[in-house]
Amino acid sequence: MAADIIDGKAFAATMREKVADHVSRLKADHGITPGLAVVLVGEDPASQVYVRNKRKQTVECGMQSFEHRLSPETPEADLLALVKRLNADPAVHGILVQLPLPPHMNADAVINAIDPAKDVDGFHISNVGLLGTGQKSMVPCTPLGCLMMLRDRLGSLSGLDAVVIGRSNIVGKPMAQLLLGESCTVTIAHSRTRDLAEVVRRADIVVAAVGRPRMVPGSWIKPGATVIDVGINRIAVPETGKTRLVGDVDFDSCAQVAGAITPVPGGVGPMTIACLLANTVTACCRANGLPEPDGLIV
Ligand code: GUN
Repeated sequence: MAADIIDGKAFAATMREKVADHVSRLKADHGITPGLAVVLVGEDPASQVYVRNKRKQTVECGMQSFEHRLSPETPEADLLALVKRLNADPAVHGILVQLPLPPHMNADAVINAIDPAKDVDGFHISNVGLLGTGQKSMVPCTPLGCLMMLRDRLGSLSGLDAVVIGRSNIVGKPMAQLLLGESCTVTIAHSRTRDLAEVVRRADIVVAAVGRPRMVPGSWIKPGATVIDVGINRIAVPETGKTRLVGDVDFDSCAQVAGAITPVPGGVGPMTIACLLANTVTACCRANGLPEPDGLIV
């Protein structure tokens, strides 16, 4: 059996159209333009690519983009002062500080300095707590994108066995919370998990977010399972002397067994940015006491 390919690129394009529609209505009906501020500290090449894409798509959806690039030696106090200014700026509805930060900075302190209402990443401790207790919050973009694709594919997730491989604050933990909120039976697996293959074999839903190229082989996948691959790993291709992107699952063997699978690239990646744009519109609506976008996000 060959798995259906879940087309995150097409899904994200549809979502961006909905975001753009909502933005034009906010402008026409209320004279409000949602604004997203992105802060990049340092010159990490992958982060530079992400930030460029975020800016492009923010502008394409009709929103305002504010970009702040700081040198890698910037003192933490300067970054905190910038966050404070952005918190106070009424034109800024969403703030994203690109991670990772340079080693001399305390990422937790920086994230927790962001106004939770503008924390479109959903990383602030109060948004983490709200999500964990099932209350209205800002939901981290990558897990949110994964959940939207799962719901689109499977409808109700209630009662399904879900295994999340990876326990990061950015993906693994919030993904598990979201799946629990959907009444899945959730296992969080990680580097110390015993007999990972056996754990994954039980799962109707596998979300792989470990950052290890092609770690999950098809022999671990339950026939018909839905596989969501969050990994974006650049590997060398010795035959061509070039590099290419692969996920955390071995696509070819998993696609033989799974019912549906996301590709890399073109799966989770585009959905992450689309969810960031949607979160920015949501933050803007909340800030202005307007109804939140209907049907834009789950
Ligand atoms: N670095 C990698 N992924 C993310 C993300 O979702 N948000 C931020 N702020 N930084 C990241």
